Amino acid sequence: MQKNPSRDRILITGGAGFIGGHLARALVASGEEVTVVDDLRVPPMIPPEGTGKFLEKPVLELEERDLSDVRFVYHLASHKSVPRSFQQPLDYLDNVDSGRHLLALCTSVGVPKVVVGSTCEVYGEADMLPTPETSPLSPRSPYAASKVGLEMLARAHQRASGAPEVGIVRFFNVYGPGERPDALVPRLCANLLTRNELPVEGDGEQRRDFTYITDVVGKLVMLAGRPLAPVVNFGSGRSFSVNDVVRVLQKASPDAGVSQKQSRPNEITEFRASTALQARQIGQKADGVGLEEGIRLTLAWWESRGLDDIRQRIFQEERAN
Ligand SMILES: NC(=O)c1ccc[n+]([C@@H]2O[C@H](COP(=O)([O-])OP(=O)(O)OC[C@H]3O[C@@H](n4cnc5c(N)ncnc54)[C@H](O)[C@@H]3O)[C@@H](O)[C@H]2O)c1
Repeated sequence: MQKNPSRDRILITGGAGFIGGHLARALVASGEEVTVVDDLRVPPMIPPEGTGKFLEKPVLELEERDLSDVRFVYHLASHKSVPRSFQQPLDYLDNVDSGRHLLALCTSVGVPKVVVGSTCEVYGEADMLPTPETSPLSPRSPYAASKVGLEMLARAHQRASGAPEVGIVRFFNVYGPGERPDALVPRLCANLLTRNELPVEGDGEQRRDFTYITDVVGKLVMLAGRPLAPVVNFGSGRSFSVNDVVRVLQKASPDAGVSQKQSRPNEITEFRASTALQARQIGQKADGVGLEEGIRLTLAWWESRGLDDIRQRIFQEERAN
């Protein structure tokens, strides 16, 4: 296909989702031409208005002409539930297949740069905390395994001549307004508001590396203007337990009850990113949104949705699991 010299668009797969939606709105607000690709297989929490041109289709159905004027791709479309991946592991092959299709298309059309969204779940129970990018990959769920498959394809393209510059970003726990209640922080917020209850799986001492969405979006935007590291962690370098998150929410509602739920099979004890490479690539941002502030903002967003809407979202998630 003829290479297009006037590439001015940024394309975001999964752009109706949590991270992709925030990223698309930030890029559009800064004057970028953005195309969002999403087949809406999960109902968006925030309607995809203000995110640029919208292509409602699966990544597997993208064609060369969809990418002909694209200079940068953020590939964020993914099945991403760890528990659901144990129930329907074959669905998660789509994460690998979609990546294969997209990378091949970017190569044939001549898209210069692609960022591929991966996850800290690829480390499994890491030997080293904080965990550097060089740590062994040890996936403990079909979801994590699908991301390892996607990463391997991305690495193959990093070595292939004529392929785009490809960078893998391993997100740790991103949270904030617009995340579905299958994830920890929104699940706690939604249950607090509708049931005055904080459901905790296991003993609540499992630790996660939380980053507020605006900080993650800021880092993703910066990538567009820099050489891409082959693989980089996007985390804060600090970890907090589920009980820490519960304590923050109890400040907002001191009479909320904590309900003990069964722990997940293959639950990872702790994720904590080494941020040394991230700091070298995009600079260390000292003033990120702290956990208390981020949870307060997330809870306020859930409150603004109204109880009926929150109940419907919880129902949808519970039915899907
Ligand atoms: N949110 C986090 O904390 C987190 C942590 C680690 C990794 N990630 C990764 O970051 C990326 C974005 O996550 P998110 O939290 O925004 O997820 P999300 O579920 O909110 O958004 C994903 C979007 O992709 C769409 N989608 C999925 N597969 C598709 C396909 N094949 N074709 C077209 N659309 C498709 C869905 O409809 C959804 O709108 C994913 O790759 C995820 O694995 C997220």
